[in-house]
Amino acid sequence: MAHQVRAVVARGKGAPVSLETIIVPDPGPGEALVKIEACGVCHTDLHYREGGINDEFPFLLGHEAAGVVESVGEGVTDVAPGDFVILNWRAVCGQCRACLRGRPWYCFSTHNAKQKMTLTDGTELSPALGIGAFAEKTLVAAGQCTKVDRAASAAAAGLLGCGVMAGIGAAINTGNVGRGDSVAVIGCGGVGAAAVVGSSLAGAAKIIAVDIDDLKLETARKLGATHAVNSKNSDAVEAIRELTGGFGADVVIEAVGRPETYQQAFYARDLAGTVVLVGVPTPEMKLELPLLDVFGRGGALKSSWYGDCLPSRDFPMLIDLYLQGRLDLDTFVTETIALDEVEKAFERMHRGDVLRSVVVL
Ligand code: APR
Ligand code: ZN
Ligand code: ZN
Repeated sequence: MAHQVRAVVARGKGAPVSLETIIVPDPGPGEALVKIEACGVCHTDLHYREGGINDEFPFLLGHEAAGVVESVGEGVTDVAPGDFVILNWRAVCGQCRACLRGRPWYCFSTHNAKQKMTLTDGTELSPALGIGAFAEKTLVAAGQCTKVDRAASAAAAGLLGCGVMAGIGAAINTGNVGRGDSVAVIGCGGVGAAAVVGSSLAGAAKIIAVDIDDLKLETARKLGATHAVNSKNSDAVEAIRELTGGFGADVVIEAVGRPETYQQAFYARDLAGTVVLVGVPTPEMKLELPLLDVFGRGGALKSSWYGDCLPSRDFPMLIDLYLQGRLDLDTFVTETIALDEVEKAFERMHRGDVLRSVVVL
């Protein structure tokens, strides 16, 4: 039996998204049908709509979601109907070289539903990041579902499915922030603010938030930043060095994705420090550095994909911390909106008004 549900679809390059009826098949072997309860609006959704990822239109947008498993296909044992789950866009395969070497967060063997969701005329949809959760129901690979405590609000839980996990993971997984470390976070939007939270969870002694927007800095302080630097009015590198006794930070997390902030991150770290790159640059961006500086500075330069997370390890742990009141996810939910308000949310995101708009169904 197929399911007819309402969903947000991007039909063509740059065109506003529309609310459409789509057809979602019953789950086949290894698949799960999930009734979506909440889905955050992420930059990547807008990127799909603008044709910046590929041109396999129409796209079924949304990929930062939580919901309840409605039914599962043959052979599925990890999740069952009724389970409250967070969806992930990288279900590790367990068989590739990265997985076998014990680094499954580098697994890029995509594990998505095999069956296609379609428009009512039969046109196949491309689900964003293999999820497609701006929909009343969606079809995913069972491995994309991680069961978490039902007591968490769906709006907060869903955020762990992408941006907030990327930020927290950049600090705790990629940056390996430890007790007593100094951390600088350059760019405190949703991802950077989450990196502040991750650094605080990890026990950093100093957390320096850097942004060009005072409102973002205010929120970063609320989330645990101990210092705030507006780099519109001052030199970010100098300010970070000054606040760290002249050395630079042990870990610098770049969450903007621009050459000037990559450069700041490079020079703002302690000689033995780590730079974590989370901000995604565009293909034409370049960074020019004196080789002597690349050679002369020790430490590490790392990029962080999805916060190097392991959903089955990290999602339940972070939800537990949230329910214990030790992890503030609610502050990230700037507004909750209806399914037909995604286009408006893109505008607000573009203006930088929100950490996250979350569709609640
Ligand atoms: N210096 C400091 N901060 C800056 C600068 C700059 N030159 N330019 C922009 N910013 C700040 C913005 O003010 C904003 O607070 O960076 C933040 C970017 O935040 P968002 O637009 O909300 O983006 P976010 O969702 O946090 O993602 C940040 O990480 O995962 C990637 O693709 C994502 O590249 C993006 C980045
Ligand atoms: Zn793998
Ligand atoms: Zn995302």
